[in-house]
Amino acid sequence: MPPEEAVNRRVAAAFFDELHVRAPQIEVDTYDLYKAPPPFFDYPLFRFLWYPIIRGGYQPTPREIEAGQVVSRLSARFKAAHMLVLTAPVWNYSVPAILKAWIDVTIAPNFSFRFVDRKLVPLHQIGRVFIFLSSGGSMGQGKVRDSLLTQLSAAFAFIGINDVTTVFVDCQDSALYPDSRERELRAIEQAQSLAREIAAGATLPG
Ligand SMILES: Cc1cc2nc3c(=O)[nH]c(=O)nc-3n(C[C@H](O)[C@H](O)[C@H](O)COP(=O)(O)O)c2cc1C
Repeated sequence: MPPEEAVNRRVAAAFFDELHVRAPQIEVDTYDLYKAPPPFFDYPLFRFLWYPIIRGGYQPTPREIEAGQVVSRLSARFKAAHMLVLTAPVWNYSVPAILKAWIDVTIAPNFSFRFVDRKLVPLHQIGRVFIFLSSGGSMGQGKVRDSLLTQLSAAFAFIGINDVTTVFVDCQDSALYPDSRERELRAIEQAQSLAREIAAGATLPG
C-alpha cells in the first residue's frame, strides 16, 4: 500500500527520519517485499536446505540449487544487518503471508544459522528486532496480541535474537475508533523515541 494509505509505513517513516537526523552514519537497507516478493517455501527449497543436513553428503540437483538462490541473496542482506525493522499490518490475527514467506526463507540452515554438536549457532549479527504493527482493532493485552508476539518472538529467538520491541499502531479502523489518529500520533512518538535511543547508542563515525 502507498505510504499515504498505510499507517505502519507512516510510523516507520517517522522512525527512519528521526534516525537519519540523529545518527546519519547508520546505513539503512530497505526491502519492500511487494517489489521483490520472496517465494513461498516449497519442496525443492526444502531439499536444497535440509537434505544435506538430514541426509549427509546429499548433492542438491540443479533445480534445487536454483530454488536456493533466493536464500543466498536474502541472507547476504540479513547477515550485513545489526538490527531489523519490520513493518506490517495485522491480517486475520497474524502477519501477511508475504512477510511469513520472507521469514520462512530467511530462517534457513547454513545461511542464518547452523547446527554445531546438536546446538544452533547464529550466522548473523542481528541483536534487536523492531516491529511496527498496525491493526484495525485493539491490540490490548490478551489472546491475539500475546499469541502473535509469542509466535514472531519465538521465530527470532530460534536464531538467537531475543530482543524484540513492538510498537502497536492499533484501533486504526476510524469507523469504530474515533481516536485512531491520536493513536497513530502516539505510535509515531514512540517510534521517534526508539530512534533516539538507538542513535544515542550508535557508534559515531571516525
Ligand atoms: C485481509 C485483512 C485482514 C485483516 N485482519 C485484521 C485483524 O485480524 N485484526 C485487526 O485488528 N485488523 C485487521 N485488518 C485491518 C488492518 O489491520 C488495518 O486496516 C490496518 O490499519 C492496516 O494497516 P496499514 O494501514 O498499515 O496497511 C485486516 C485488514 C485486511 C485487509
